[in-house]
Formats: sequence, structure tokens, C-alpha cells
Amino acid sequence: MKTYNWGIIGPGKIARKFADDLKLLPNARLHAVASTSPQRAAAFAGEYGVEHVYGRYEDIVHCPGLDVVYIATPHVLHGENTLLCLEHGIPVLCEKPFSMNTAEARRMIAAARRNRVFLMEALWTRFIPAFDHALELIAQGEIGEVHTVKSDFGFMMPFDAQHRIFNKALGGGSLLDIGIYPALLALFVFGKPETEDILAAAAFTRTEVDESCAFTFQYPRKGPRARSQHHCRKHAH
Ligand SMILES: NC(=O)c1ccc[n+]([C@@H]2O[C@H](COP(=O)([O-])OP(=O)(O)OC[C@H]3O[C@@H](n4cnc5c(N)ncnc54)[C@H](OP(=O)(O)O)[C@@H]3O)[C@@H](O)[C@H]2O)c1
Repeated sequence: MKTYNWGIIGPGKIARKFADDLKLLPNARLHAVASTSPQRAAAFAGEYGVEHVYGRYEDIVHCPGLDVVYIATPHVLHGENTLLCLEHGIPVLCEKPFSMNTAEARRMIAAARRNRVFLMEALWTRFIPAFDHALELIAQGEIGEVHTVKSDFGFMMPFDAQHRIFNKALGGGSLLDIGIYPALLALFVFGKPETEDILAAAAFTRTEVDESCAFTFQYPRKGPRARSQHHCRKHAH
């Protein structure tokens, strides 16, 4: 069995969880780490026994023996970091949210296709067995025709203007942080709604990011009723 040599860009909070979990896989090892700070890269490498250590993101793409990179930087850097790897032929697992907008996502996907390199969003809930099981039950008709999906995700987060969740310059806000999870469920059950069929509302912090948001996707129905609705609510107070 091939052992895949992983690299990490952005050794922060979730990168540590990722590095811990990588130890559980028989065919994976942590091979390289890149930070914007040589000191942080060295500290992370010491903590996890990483052989190749880079104090600039640009340098990890030249790492010998590197098979794949996990990108764990703030949202606004996902596109740039992903393109860096893809253009050097290195496969990427990119943290959610995949990108800041559609245009950026298209550039990332185009680069993966052009370079014929693997690219995936690290949207972990998609891989929870219960998620697959729910989709199976729906597909088998176990619960009959699905008319509505209601989905909610939230957590308490004390306000901190500098933290990436409240910092607009880092892509802060509830929708991009966890609103994507209820949205994913809707997309899997009902597919993509037309843009004009999305209703949304949000409450904003003084840093101008959404501290909570609610959105409704509306879908045409096959049956007697005119519309089906998917309600998603998410709160991050
Ligand atoms: N899948 C999940 O369950 C999950 C959970 C949490 C977070 N995430 C995603 O993972 C990403 C990182 O989240 P996190 O909570 O790990 O964030 P974090 O603790 O702030 O770590 C992000 C890392 O990115 C690097 N970075 C580069 N430029 C930065 C800047 N201008 N400001 C702050 N950090 C910068 C930093 O490392 P260096 O400067 O040392 O390179 C930092 O440690 C986010 O996109 C988030 O949505 C996913």
C-alpha cells in the first residue's frame, strides 16, 4: 500500500486536528509544513515530527517526495494557496469554504483540470456515515417523498474583532464558516436552486460580517403543490 506524504499550509487550529487524525491512517504521513512564520513552522514540525519545514508557503511546492497538500488557511487565502499547489502539479485538499465566490471556485477547478491534478474541498460532514445513510434512506423511499428539509447549525462565539470569524478581511461571517453545512444538505437532497429562488436574511456585527443568517431555498415540485421549500437556519452568536 502506498503511503501518501502530506503537506500542510497554514498550521493553525484545524491543521492541528488534521495532523492528529492523519496519525490514524495507515497510508498517510505528515511530510511537510509551511507557515508564514519560520518559527511557527518549526514549532509545528517539532510537535508533529515533520521532516520538511518551510517558512513561506511558496516553498512547500518544491518539497521532495510531497504527494498532496492540505490547505488550512483563512478562507480568503484558499484560492491563492490552492492555485499555487495546482500550478506545480500538487494535489490539494482545501478547507471549507472552498472559495470566497463563484469566480474564484471556477479558477481553482479550471487549474485542477488544466493540470490534471486532484482537488477536493474538505467538507467533513459529507463523510459522516449518518449523512450517507440519510441519503440512502431517501433514495430508497423509506420516508416517502421529501417535501422540506430543515437544517440548523450554530455555536456560541464571544465577539473578537480580530478573530477570523469576525474579521471581514479574512472572510469572516456565519454563512461562510458554518452556513455552508445546512446548504450542503439541501444541495444533496434537492439539488441546486435557481438564484431567484433563494431568500436570505442576516444580522451583522460591527465588523460588518454576518453573525447569524437564515436562508430558504425554494424548489419546483412535481406533485400537486406549487413549491417545495428547504429551510436552512444557522446562528453563530
Ligand atoms: N473542516 C472543519 O471542521 C473546519 C474547522 C475549523 C476551521 N476550518 C477551516 O479551516 C480554515 C482555518 O481555520 P482555523 O480555525 O484553523 O484558523 P486559524 O487557527 O486562524 O489558522 C489559520 C492559519 O492560517 C495562517 N494564516 C495565513 N495568513 C493568515 C492571516 N492573515 N490571519 C490569520 N491566519 C493566517 C496561519 O498560519 P501561519 O501564519 O503560521 O501560516 C494560521 O495559523 C478556515 O477556512 C476554516 O473555515 C474547517
